[in-house]
Amino acid sequence: MNPVELTITRPDDWHLHLRDGDMLHAVLPFTARQFARAIVMPNLQPPVTTVQQAQAYAARIAAALPPAMVEQGYSFQPLMTLYLTDQTPADEIHRAVDGDVVHAVKLYPAGATTHSDRGVTNLAHCTAALESMQRLGLPLCIHGEVTDSNVDVFDREAVFIDQVLIPLRHRFPELRIVFEHITTRHAADYVRDADGSIAATITPQHLLYNRNSIFRGGLRPHMYCLPVLKREEHRQALVAVATSGSPRFFLGTDSAPHERTTKESSCGCAGCFSAPVALELYAEAFEAVGALDRLEAFSSFYGPDFYRLPRNTSTVRLQKAEREVEAAFPCPGGSLVPLASGERLGWRFSGLV
Ligand code: NCD
Ligand code: ZN
Repeated sequence: MNPVELTITRPDDWHLHLRDGDMLHAVLPFTARQFARAIVMPNLQPPVTTVQQAQAYAARIAAALPPAMVEQGYSFQPLMTLYLTDQTPADEIHRAVDGDVVHAVKLYPAGATTHSDRGVTNLAHCTAALESMQRLGLPLCIHGEVTDSNVDVFDREAVFIDQVLIPLRHRFPELRIVFEHITTRHAADYVRDADGSIAATITPQHLLYNRNSIFRGGLRPHMYCLPVLKREEHRQALVAVATSGSPRFFLGTDSAPHERTTKESSCGCAGCFSAPVALELYAEAFEAVGALDRLEAFSSFYGPDFYRLPRNTSTVRLQKAEREVEAAFPCPGGSLVPLASGERLGWRFSGLV
């Protein structure tokens, strides 16, 4: 029997792009309505590479929360990340662990995705930082794709596991790792079966869509993100692990806003803006396989458990209600087209209980 409403512990988003400046002000309220905390990606331009920069960015995020939301009881805590570079010193890791602002370090292989040009060219350059992270327990969040243009774009995650992740974990067996936004059966199987401290985040788009969605009746730039959507068999493997009850898999939207014209372009940006309907989309995916009873742990328990943070104590509600997702939202210089825009969803987020 399907419930008409769902009340769950307030969730957190363990992978999020908030941008900066006016765009930050435009997108933050969508996330702060649904999520109490978020792991905030550091791929600004220039990237957030120091604790000092992370603290300043966290203050800008806090200042961008609309006072009206604060009055209504919405709190939002940004959990900051440092952008790993070939030059990140061990000292920066120590500073991160000594403070309470930075909760993870992000590995972007150089050239893998949006604003990754300052990313790591070779993990051999990062030994000192990784040793400190391993010793001090600071998690490494990984964008797991190789960047070799000779490797087929649909294979880059699977090749990354063999060529980079397994050797990295061999060198640093105690390093705590989050394999971000996994998209393939290979990644799901690897994380499910691996020894040691490893987890993965899964986005709503990779649970709901396969790569046909990018080409449905024409080229659909708002379905383009990185890692790119994969075949249906991979989508099904992701749904299986997300709804399995394994604490190694938890919610991370990878909501990544880009103004409409930068996506509807001859060289469109990668990223799906899912924040306005994030929880509704996850509810759709879990409901489709009869696993709504597992949504709360995936959304609200396993993430804080992995990051060694307390679970939230407030609750939020979703109502069973047909609705059409908005065509677009205003943002500086234009508009943002949300993921699933124009589609009908069966759930509506109704706020804090
Ligand atoms: C992200 C962005 O736009 O910052 N884009 C995306 O497609 N996911 C970068 C990233 O996380 O890869
Ligand atoms: Zn991302």
